[in-house]
Amino acid sequence: MDDNLLLKVQDFSLSYRTRKGDVAAVNRVNFDLKKGETLAVVGESGCGKSSLARGLIRLFPRNIKNVEGQILLNNRDILSLDEETFRKEIRWKEMAMVFQGAMNSLNPVLKVVFQVAEPLIVHYDIDRNSAFGRAKEVLSMVGISGAFAERYPFELSGGMKQRVIIAMALITNPKIILLDEPTSALDIITQENIMNLLKMLKKELNLSYIFITHDIALTSELADKMAVMYAGEIVELSPVEDFYSNPSHIYTRLLLDSVPTLRGEKKLKSIPGSPPSLIDPPSGCKFHPRCPYVMDICKTEEPPFYKISENHFARCYLSEDKKV
Ligand SMILES: Nc1ncnc2c1ncn2[C@@H]1O[C@H](COP(=O)(O)OP(=O)(O)OP(=O)(O)O)[C@@H](O)[C@H]1O
Ligand SMILES: [Mg+2]
Repeated sequence: MDDNLLLKVQDFSLSYRTRKGDVAAVNRVNFDLKKGETLAVVGESGCGKSSLARGLIRLFPRNIKNVEGQILLNNRDILSLDEETFRKEIRWKEMAMVFQGAMNSLNPVLKVVFQVAEPLIVHYDIDRNSAFGRAKEVLSMVGISGAFAERYPFELSGGMKQRVIIAMALITNPKIILLDEPTSALDIITQENIMNLLKMLKKELNLSYIFITHDIALTSELADKMAVMYAGEIVELSPVEDFYSNPSHIYTRLLLDSVPTLRGEKKLKSIPGSPPSLIDPPSGCKFHPRCPYVMDICKTEEPPFYKISENHFARCYLSEDKKV
């Protein structure tokens, strides 16, 4: 086994129970993550990005129906661990998460340093003084130093609140951080500052990230490899260079065509139609009802993963001619 391999996700699926039927939010997802590597996960709203991340850290909603597959962390299957062991040994300690929209759920009546220290006191039984010391240390690492640590959330800007949220994820010194839309509520300058902070932390602490975003333009800054999700599935997995220069799945290509470039020289195209219901998804390739190149086989047969090159796979019949 590759010594640098940290996380191996195999055939991971999960579904939710609803009154209208079961929602297959994550469907047989496979990927690897090495030490210090960043995987960006992109795809339209509702394709299952947050479900995947919350599933990896095992924070399931009440109406979870089914969870399947394997999640190997350092070759140990953490999906089959009992909750107590997972909570003590894995969640926050090995793998932490920055939740989508978390900066809006900071406790308004607690100074930020207390909020950052809390997991150490609650989960790790560390005495308050040491916990506050460590909280100040990580806050300063994310650019919030001195008196700012003693402030209440309403006294901080959006960018600073997001830094506090990142500090919370760092406090237990995890190796993997799941970042769910960490910059989506921020203006473009602040977004750039947070991206720079994430890059700096990745380098300094040799962190691995799973970086979820619907803003594809941001991925080139941080990602080593890309997973494109559609209707609960990873439909293309590739090194970041291939994602931009040699996208294979038609969905990936259309997704790229819908992203504005800095110079704005290309004409933007939107993807026709809308994502399918995950309660009763289309047969065959789930993208086929929206695909301009649909063929008969796409409507009935689920495409296999075609290997385009060593680390590049796509689930599209039109990738077949690119197979090596
Ligand atoms: N607790 C739940 N119960 C039922 N359905 C859910 C639940 N949570 C999410 N879903 C559904 O699962 C699918 C995937 O949702 P998820 O939040 O993972 O998507 P996402 O890619 O993160 O979207 P966004 O980009 O909007 O954050 C969607 O169809 C969503 O409506
Ligand atoms: Mg989400």
